[in-house]
Amino acid sequence: MRTAAALLKRGEVVAFPTETVYGLGADAFNSVAVRKVFVAKGRPADDPLIVHVARIADVAKVAARVSPVAKRLMNAFWPGPLTLVLPANRAVPKVVTAGLPTVGVRMPAHPVARRLCTFVGPIAAPSANTFSKPSPTTAAHVYNDLHGKIPLILDGGSTDIGVESTIVSLAGTPTLLRPGKITVEQLKRFLPKLKIVTQVAKTQKPLAPGMKYRHYAPRTPVVLVLKPSAKNVQKLIAAEQKRGKRVGLLCSGRYHTNADKVMILGATPASTAKKLFHALRWLDTQKLDVIIAEGLPEKGFGLAVMNRLRRAAGKII
Ligand code: TXA
Ligand code: MG
Repeated sequence: MRTAAALLKRGEVVAFPTETVYGLGADAFNSVAVRKVFVAKGRPADDPLIVHVARIADVAKVAARVSPVAKRLMNAFWPGPLTLVLPANRAVPKVVTAGLPTVGVRMPAHPVARRLCTFVGPIAAPSANTFSKPSPTTAAHVYNDLHGKIPLILDGGSTDIGVESTIVSLAGTPTLLRPGKITVEQLKRFLPKLKIVTQVAKTQKPLAPGMKYRHYAPRTPVVLVLKPSAKNVQKLIAAEQKRGKRVGLLCSGRYHTNADKVMILGATPASTAKKLFHALRWLDTQKLDVIIAEGLPEKGFGLAVMNRLRRAAGKII
């Protein structure tokens, strides 16, 4: 922890665990350091970073204003997987916000992430993957993507949640920009008029710049089945195999399957989220021609899991 804090204070980048996914952090007020994050990831400069803080009082260092409802959301869900987009304070370097007048802020629940923020101050950190790859949920994922490009990874084991934080914009009409562990149902208790805009047309200017990029995509084509049953999934697998294809399967439970490689994610959104990015990364190493993924109901935390699966999929049936 001391080595990590010292590196961050001297303008280096460090990968660290959060409760959602691993982040690649830099001192949020050091624009030279923040630029190193973009370089290591190969991330386009128009995609802003989330600033991580150790305490609510630190939000004032990066946000120009904190509305009463923002305060209520922080009290209800922080520390935890909720990012709030607020009007940015002028002290925040443009490289963090990608020149937007707003800044994304969250207080992570993971003790390592929080300790780092306590030592260093606000830390700007995107997920610690190479651009367009699935977010890392283990230190090994970070190592595979970024070794040789960053000086240090703090290994905190597998992350608890497995998908990135919920993002809500409070700059203007409250809008859900990315679904996550904090669900629409939970948010609506504080924001009854919450707008849901997670899928944007290609021609439209995306609200969260990150949304316009293809994410979570393994190299192997993914086919997402919206209403899976043992029977229709097995039929799909058989049809692909008949054409000589090697098939991987992402499924909820153990039933008889002829798939060449199988990853069982469990029956709940929480169990699926926890293993999803690891499963996509692993199946991608198995020399498969296609990955068939079982969908789940798009309510509660299932909305967040399906958002990632839809982005990974080249075809949805
Ligand atoms: O759980 C998480 O949020 C993880 C951990 C490390 O905290 N971080 C993460 O960061 O997923 P990243 O960079 O992979 O995703 C951040 C998303 C991007 O889609 C970005 O466009 C959006 O947040 N974002 C950041 N600042 C924004 C802003 N001012 N307005 C709109 N969207 C913003
Ligand atoms: Mg990311």
